[in-house]
Amino acid sequence: MLITGTAGFIGSHVAEALETAGHDISGFDLRNGDDVRDADRLERALRGVDAVVHQAAKVGLGVNIADMPDYVSINAYGTAVVLAAMARCRVARLVLASSMVVYGEGAYDCAAHGRVRPGPRAERDLAAGFFEPRCPRCAAALTSAAIGEDAPADPRSVYATTKLTQEHLAASWARETGGTAVALRYHNVYGPRMPRDTPYSGVAAIFRSALEAGRAPTVFEDGGQRRDFVHVRDVARANAAALDAGVPGALTAYNIASGEPHTVGELAAALAAERGGPEPVTTGEYRLGDVRHIVASPDRAAEELGFRAGIGFAAGMRELATAPLG
Ligand code: UD1
Repeated sequence: MLITGTAGFIGSHVAEALETAGHDISGFDLRNGDDVRDADRLERALRGVDAVVHQAAKVGLGVNIADMPDYVSINAYGTAVVLAAMARCRVARLVLASSMVVYGEGAYDCAAHGRVRPGPRAERDLAAGFFEPRCPRCAAALTSAAIGEDAPADPRSVYATTKLTQEHLAASWARETGGTAVALRYHNVYGPRMPRDTPYSGVAAIFRSALEAGRAPTVFEDGGQRRDFVHVRDVARANAAALDAGVPGALTAYNIASGEPHTVGELAAALAAERGGPEPVTTGEYRLGDVRHIVASPDRAAEELGFRAGIGFAAGMRELATAPLG
């Protein structure tokens, strides 16, 4: 099978896991001169291949709107080129790296109105130190719940939009060619080789990089924002499970999560403790685009792919505290 993005953080672990599982793999990565937007190179790489595991993407939130064309080019157009090449080469199986960002905010319940979908938080709330989203009907504070794959999509960044576009393109490809696609919606992936502190990095890499430089991790808001931190080797195993499961149908999406949510404050505290300090500082700062809580139900992946994360938060953070970064 062909794995795209094999030089990247998650792609490199996926390649290792699939090789260990006995698959015959070949890699495709821009860092080796292989661009997913190059149809000729792709077609050569797809000869004799039975499945594509598409991990190559421009990730993170980006610096500003000037990044928009690059995200669309690499993630949306690039996936279209991959799918068209797969159709020409009669490759009928796709596993796609998607993301929890397609949901926007997580799932929320209002005491009076049940399950609701709050929009972006108001800046006056954030500036006043009120960080929980409000009920769109009565403005009461909400409680967060685990999100399932059937929740409506609400992409709130260019990156999120391109990840959802990838899913839609894959579904169209599958319907028109009779192929099958699985979209793995990764939650906050961490572990060895994760990229260092860049404008594109997630919070776990930022905290680890700060601690390594002797600086205190800066925790935004009040530190109570919840995420599902899932270890990269578990994510790699999920890709192997998705290939082996042979899920029928055009496109099925799965949360790939630990099922054990933690707050950003707990993340900072765990990493700081493992490194012996400095202690995290909670600043009350906020980023307008951030969502408050996004935690997942891992049940569909467990039932249909037989995948459950195996590396717990404490063990994963112990490893991340000193693991080599990319
Ligand atoms: C992140 C990724 C997103 C990816 C998703 C799932 C980025 C920027 N975001 O989204 O692309 O799809 O995981 O893997 O890569 N925070 C701090 N201190 C900091 C930085 C962040 O407290 O120094 C807080 C933020 O305010 C936020 C939380 O940590 O509440 C998570 O931030 P981050 O990892 O950047 O973004 P996600 O929304 O989780």
